[in-house]
Amino acid sequence: MQGRTGKDQKVFPRLKLSFSRLGQVIFVLREIVKIVSRIKPGLLVTVFVLSFVWGFSSIPTFYIEKLIIDSLVSSLGSPDKQKVFYRIFFLVSLSLLISLLRNILSSVNSFLRHTLSRYLDAELDVLMVNKVSQLSLPALENPEFMDRFNKIERESGRRAWQLMTPISEIPGYLAGFVSATAVLVLVYPLISLGVILVSLPRFFVNSKFIKREYDLDTELSPKNRVWAWVRYHLTKNRNFMELRILGVSHYLTEKMRSVIDEILSKRATLNKERESWAFFSSLPLTFYELLVSAMLIFWVVVGKITVGSFQLYLRSLRSAEQNLNGLIASLLNIYENYIYVADLVWFLGLPDEESHKGVIPPKGDISIVFKDVWFRYQDQQSWVLKDISFEVSQGEKIAIVGENGAGKSTLIKLLAGFYLPQRGEILIGNCEISNIDLSNWRKRLAVLFQDFELYPFSVREAIGYGDISRLDKLSEIKESAKKAGIDNFVESLPLGYDTPLTPEFGGGVRPSIGQWQRLGIARVLFRKGADILILDEPTSNVDPEAEERIFKELSKVSKDKFLIFVTQRFSTVRIADRIFVMDKGKIIETGTHRELMKLNGKYHRLFTLQSRSYVGFD
Ligand SMILES: Nc1ncnc2c1ncn2[C@@H]1O[C@H](COP(=O)(O)OP(=O)(O)O)[C@@H](O)[C@H]1O
Ligand SMILES: [Mg+2]
Repeated sequence: MQGRTGKDQKVFPRLKLSFSRLGQVIFVLREIVKIVSRIKPGLLVTVFVLSFVWGFSSIPTFYIEKLIIDSLVSSLGSPDKQKVFYRIFFLVSLSLLISLLRNILSSVNSFLRHTLSRYLDAELDVLMVNKVSQLSLPALENPEFMDRFNKIERESGRRAWQLMTPISEIPGYLAGFVSATAVLVLVYPLISLGVILVSLPRFFVNSKFIKREYDLDTELSPKNRVWAWVRYHLTKNRNFMELRILGVSHYLTEKMRSVIDEILSKRATLNKERESWAFFSSLPLTFYELLVSAMLIFWVVVGKITVGSFQLYLRSLRSAEQNLNGLIASLLNIYENYIYVADLVWFLGLPDEESHKGVIPPKGDISIVFKDVWFRYQDQQSWVLKDISFEVSQGEKIAIVGENGAGKSTLIKLLAGFYLPQRGEILIGNCEISNIDLSNWRKRLAVLFQDFELYPFSVREAIGYGDISRLDKLSEIKESAKKAGIDNFVESLPLGYDTPLTPEFGGGVRPSIGQWQRLGIARVLFRKGADILILDEPTSNVDPEAEERIFKELSKVSKDKFLIFVTQRFSTVRIADRIFVMDKGKIIETGTHRELMKLNGKYHRLFTLQSRSYVGFD
């Protein structure tokens, strides 16, 4: 088994974008095609086949046109008008029929492509959500990751499809080019070679600009983030009132506008340059066509070829040229989008957080031990936890107190196994936490984090998510709600336990922070299978009377369990068997309320400060 380690290290491998490495492009293409073929293999194959058939179907049309023109020319002096008429009419009908079939083919293929693109979009959404839920927290919080993930979120769905479109068009262009060139080879093989040569400038010019566009995108990435951030906060903010009072909306809008102006003007400059280069690089093709036309006209005049053949060759030349251009555009398109999709493929290939095959710590009478634990969030940052050591036994109730930033929430995150210490050990029933089976471990935890999740669906779900296997046990959900003192509120709602917890959904309400906290506590209480209850300032916004009742309940349900809670209110520490006082990353005092008061240290100071404010000035 591969143990997880918390030592300072790279959280994920870097991916280097290199423009010379064809292997990488092919790798990315293969990954995307793999995803598409996993969702709709039949559809993918059909799209390819139809595109191929479409590419081949233009030459018969050209040939029939040649026959029509030749028949028309030769009929000029013919006595049997009726026979000529029927022959030409038949040819024209045939040509129309083929063109009709081509139209049908093209519509069907475009419909299938759209369908495929929707499936791909949806699948990428699912894969991305899935991946995020598998990554470790240190990986998710890494700034490099966040930067790239923002770009992926913004671009990838669209880009992945833009990568697939040219792939699915290539067979058609290839077939079109090959068949048109085959006709030209019959006349004059060098003509087809010439088409390729005169197309090269376009290819080089475009590939150069693609690289410059990607570089510009990277350069503008921080600006794009500011744009997205301001838009998000001005439209989705949960507190419009503060924005109004501070009057920052206008300031932020202006900030957004100036960022947008800069982004757009830089893009416009580059696009202008790209378009003018594109124009000049297409000139050789135009002149080449003129040259070949002159040669063909000459051949008609000297009687070497018929007028119909003139039409056939010219059409074939144009078709070869168009298909080659299409092919080049597709390849460039693939290349252009590959750069973005490479990020997506990198992201989807990131290693998952945990192996679920670790040691399973014993249940029952165990203890949780922190041994000289040191922790910091990122290398180079300062230590958040310094030399923490303690032992807690099953059945004990522990309160953690301390000022903001002391490291209380961090301690809890380590205890829950989301971060690993850089130094020291955390033992769960004698098993090192980096070796334990995380999915088993998490089933034993019931945690209410300080910034806990606000599920906007129904009340029933907000509580029931505490144990999704018992989501249908409404009576037990109600019981937990009662223990958390939220039952009266819920029952007063028109839809009761089916009321959504956001006005965005029909009939929804917007609970206050204190009500959200009670819902969170109900969720913890509903998680009956858990034997380790952890709550981080669970009642900071709950009124004192309800708080007292809630803590009584917590104390009751955690009789033979671990109960570890962070609190700022000294009235609640009474139920604790032991209190840890944290200060600047260290546990500086431990003991019962009485012991700590006797110690006359930090705890004594904080407690008297608070009780004085309750009693009034002394
Ligand atoms: N995800 C994080 N990344 C970097 N630093 C963090 C992160 N979370 C918390 N910190 C820092 O760690 C310190 C302790 O935070 P925290 O444990 O939340 O304190 P407390 O809960 O005691 O108020 C703070 O200085 C905070 O800024
Ligand atoms: Mg905290």
